[in-house]
Amino acid sequence: MHAVLLLVLFALGTAGSPNNPRSIFINSVDDDAVIKIPTVHESAVQARRIMHLSTIGTLSTVFPTTDALEDRPSGLGGVPIGLMDYFADCEPETGNPTILAVDIATSFKNAAAGSNVTLSMRWVSPDSHSRVYSPAALPRFSLVGYLEELSDEDVESGKIAECFVQHHRDAKVWLPGSRIHRSRWVRLVVNDVYWIGGFGDRAYIGWIPVEVWRNVTVEEVHDATLPGDGRGLGFTLINWFRARWF
Ligand SMILES: *[C@@H]1O[C@H](CO)[C@@H](O)[C@H](O)[C@H]1NC(C)=O
Ligand SMILES: *[C@@H]1O[C@H](CO)[C@@H](O)[C@H](O)[C@H]1NC(C)=O
Repeated sequence: MHAVLLLVLFALGTAGSPNNPRSIFINSVDDDAVIKIPTVHESAVQARRIMHLSTIGTLSTVFPTTDALEDRPSGLGGVPIGLMDYFADCEPETGNPTILAVDIATSFKNAAAGSNVTLSMRWVSPDSHSRVYSPAALPRFSLVGYLEELSDEDVESGKIAECFVQHHRDAKVWLPGSRIHRSRWVRLVVNDVYWIGGFGDRAYIGWIPVEVWRNVTVEEVHDATLPGDGRGLGFTLINWFRARWF
């Protein structure tokens, strides 16, 4: 589209148009150059905000190579499987998402058998009905790590359950101690973060070092803006006034 426009302008220019097409040509090129690719840190902040606002992701694990007790097709050892699961950002100081592991679920059986775990999520813009909406232009990422059971101390304060149920009212029924399913609180200990911020000419695509991921502050997460979240200029102005006068 751009290229066609430039060609037309260029053709006009060589045809002796009075509109100085040469400078238009240069401006167009400059416009493209103005797009600033977010830094790794800025990408980490966006990722942490997406995790903060999201509650559902895809949990990927691999089947153990030997599992004589399991009723399953043969040849699945080492094969990955991704399944939808609930999570919540209940330990925001660390960036490790909280998950309610139901013992009979495949993902948690695989994890119990030693599988590492990847949690993938994507930003779904509230603006997704817009005509120009392209899911490929929006951020998505994967948190790679392993599951670790929360200690009694972590759970005792009740904050974890309260936070999780705030995001997942229906999960009340299978909280640890319920009679429906045996379940336990776990955190995904994030070891690696793979980020695709959108199209590569304007977004960072690649690994985010885990120290950068962990280092993001709760304030940064709170103030971050995501594409189509309605927090653009207006939000920035409100924040600016708030920082000055409140
Ligand atoms: C899990 O990942 C770690 C690296 O983070 C690796 O050392 C370990 O072997 C992996 N475990 C399995 C069962 O693949
Ligand atoms: C973590 O944040 C602190 C304070 O903002 C900064 O000084 C430090 O360089 C950061 N470390 C990494 C690995 O980003």
